[in-house]
Amino acid sequence: MKTRVTALLGIEYPIIQGGMAWVAEHNLAAAVSEAGGLGLIGGANAPGEVVREEIRKARELTDKPFGVNVMLMSPFADDVAKVVVEEGIKVVTTGAGNPGKYMEMWKNAGIKVIPVVASVALARMMEKGGADAVVAEGTESGGHIGDQTTMSLVPQVADAVSIPVIAAGGIADGRGIAAAFMLGAEAVQMGTRFVVAKESIVHQNYKDRIIKAKDIDSAVTGRSHGHPIRSLRNQMTREYLKMEQEGRPFEELEYLTMGTLRKAVMEGDVMHGTVMAGQIAGMVKKEQTCKEMISEMTAEAEKLLSGTSFR
Ligand SMILES: Cc1cc2nc3c(=O)[nH]c(=O)nc-3n(C[C@H](O)[C@H](O)[C@H](O)COP(=O)(O)O)c2cc1C
Repeated sequence: MKTRVTALLGIEYPIIQGGMAWVAEHNLAAAVSEAGGLGLIGGANAPGEVVREEIRKARELTDKPFGVNVMLMSPFADDVAKVVVEEGIKVVTTGAGNPGKYMEMWKNAGIKVIPVVASVALARMMEKGGADAVVAEGTESGGHIGDQTTMSLVPQVADAVSIPVIAAGGIADGRGIAAAFMLGAEAVQMGTRFVVAKESIVHQNYKDRIIKAKDIDSAVTGRSHGHPIRSLRNQMTREYLKMEQEGRPFEELEYLTMGTLRKAVMEGDVMHGTVMAGQIAGMVKKEQTCKEMISEMTAEAEKLLSGTSFR
């Protein structure tokens, strides 16, 4: 399964673990990289020094490449952008905006820049701005989402840009990887399945909620103010959706969700916390090590793709 993405990132398998806020810390990122994929540390809203610490801890666990997801809307984005350069990180993915203002600094440092996009227009803009690849993320994903499905977005992005495309959203087994390749992707990024990895520090209640989830168990909150988020249904999503229907102001909705991802991930409050996960949660049925997950998925994908020329 060697592609332009495995060559670009110096990894064995074309599998990237999404830079998930609170979830993607050094233990998970290092475990995925050790297993031959690319682990990412999720910068989220953390200050630069916290991200630096996470990078250093991951380095103690693996000498394989791993990257950092820089959330561009974070109040600490400028700091984190500098920290990745100072720490010699070689791959950065970006979410929630345009990384244009950091591009020169990152390129000069030899960093591969991979923005997450939810439309063809944004993918084209990122290619023009010097991105090395893009993650085309469908609305099936956990966390912040766009409108297009992975099935329709990936081939359209693959046709529109000449840099490699990484598919994300609704992929959690070898069939998903093979399908993504058939759509023109050269790697996949997965979030939901890695949340339940044995090495993931996520509270057991959160993992159990994903493992018990059915196909229809996710809900999207925040559509009314243009920042939709997919998470598993609970007391919090019910309350939020009711308030949205009532047309309550953005500030009130924001207040309701403040700190709720941390509450679910760290404290295991899966009733009032935000249990971010994608539609594919219904298919994630067991905790496994990252190595077991990656070996199982790549073996299945290779079998399905054998004899197929996917590029
Ligand atoms: C708990 C959780 C938190 C996430 N946080 C982020 C984030 O901070 N930045 C980001 O770019 N993507 C984030 N994502 C999206 C993932 O990186 C990934 O693209 C997505 O989960 C892929 O879809 P899947 O969940 O169907 O595998 C998050 C996803 C989950 C499940």
